[in-house]
Order: sequence, then C-alpha cells, then structure tokens
Amino acid sequence: MRGRFVAGNWKMNGSLAANAALLQAVSAGTQSLAGVECAVCVPFPYLAQAAQALKGALPVLGAQTVSEHAAGAYTGEVSASMLAEFGCRYVLVGHSERRSIFGESDAQVAAKFVAAAGAGIVPLLCLGESLAEREAGRTEEVVGRQLDAVMDTAGVQALAGAVLAYEPVWAIGTGRTASPQQAQDVHAFLRSRVAARDAKVAQGLRILYGGSVKASNASEIFAMADVDGGLIGGASLVANDFLAICNAARKG
Ligand code: PGA
Repeated sequence: MRGRFVAGNWKMNGSLAANAALLQAVSAGTQSLAGVECAVCVPFPYLAQAAQALKGALPVLGAQTVSEHAAGAYTGEVSASMLAEFGCRYVLVGHSERRSIFGESDAQVAAKFVAAAGAGIVPLLCLGESLAEREAGRTEEVVGRQLDAVMDTAGVQALAGAVLAYEPVWAIGTGRTASPQQAQDVHAFLRSRVAARDAKVAQGLRILYGGSVKASNASEIFAMADVDGGLIGGASLVANDFLAICNAARKG
C-alpha cells in the first residue's frame, strides 16, 4: 500500500510574519495525521525560518526548484547541496510555471531531478499538458514525453525514491479542477508507462494530483485508485484549508 502524501506549494508568496502564523498552525494540525506525509515547499529566503519553525516534525520541508549545477558561476541559482543544508527533504522539479515562464526544457528538468536526487533530496517531478494540448488529444503524448525524459536520463530506478505530480496546466490556479476520472486516467497512464520499464517501481510510486485542489473537492479526487495525494497551491496558504485537504488524504 502506497502512503498518502500532500505537499503545499507556496509559490512566490509569504512574509516573515505571515509565514510564522501559517507554519505554526499547519505544524500543530499535521502532527496527528497517521498515514499521511505532509510537506510545504517554501520560497528560498524562508527555508531557514521554516526549518526552525518545523523543527524536523511534520510538515517536512521542501523547495520549489533547484539548479542542475553543483556550484559555480550561476548567479541567482541555488544548488541541491544548499537545499540539503537547510533540511529540505523535497524539491519540486519541472513545475509548469518553471517550464512555461522560465523556459525549462525536458532535458533541464531531468538534470535538475538528477541533481536533487544526488544530494539526497526527493525530487517531486511535475508533469502536465496545456489546454490546447488536451483539446488536441495530446495529453498522453505530452506527459509521456516529460516522464520519459527523466527516465531516460536518471534511469527508472531513480523513480523508486521520487514522487510524481500530475498537474494539468489548465487546472492550476484557475478554479477549474480535472474531474476525478480525468485525473485517474492520466495517473494510470503514467504508472503503466513506468511499469513498462519496472513493475515494482511503478507499483510503489506515489503520484499526486495538482490543480485547484480545495477542501471541497479533495476527497473525491483522492478516492481514485492511482491518486496518492495532492500538490496544493493556493489552498496551501490558508492553514485550515490545507489541513482539511491533508485530512481528506487520510480518509480517502
Ligand atoms: P493551485 O496550484 O492549487 O493553486 O491550482 C497548484 C500548483 O501549481 O502546484
């Protein structure tokens, strides 16, 4: 049985004062969530604050991106070993905003995945199609290509310690959620794609759904067989909403 996992993605939001209250409330509310692992992926400058506030308890700490390089002349970038020093257990790689706004290619995302795993940080690999791609019937082609880029570079065994997040771009921050069946279909496709290379890795792989998950729709999405939890953007900034979603993962 795969464990449930709910990760918050704060994106570029927060302040020292707002974070203190949010971290305190989320930390207090997640201690008793048996069977659900929770994480918060915070902006780089707040990693130290979050590490201090969470003190190694739930939720665990994550970052939102990482450099594919180990060190050197890469102004503005942050390496995986730096994230490890601040207690990051997870890092998002290939979030659609990184792919579309910052032009990250499949190859670059794969390199970031390898860099994170090499530093002992679990990569949370985000995959998803745009609305135009879905409407053109290209969803499986797109997410399959994004997944293959990582498996070809890192090897299928690298997925044994990783997490996937299916996030249809048209559902992120739009209030438009994929139906539970739409999510299940893509999750099952991704799992079968991994199973074609290694059935055992596929069976144990946690695949999260992300895109306008709210307290009101989390349970029905988490009830699907191949949905192992969620990646939560907007709702992760409101402690009660995030906690309700974590609770839905426990019950689902
Ligand atoms: P959302 O964002 O929950 O606000 O749609 C999800 C994400 O981008 O990870």
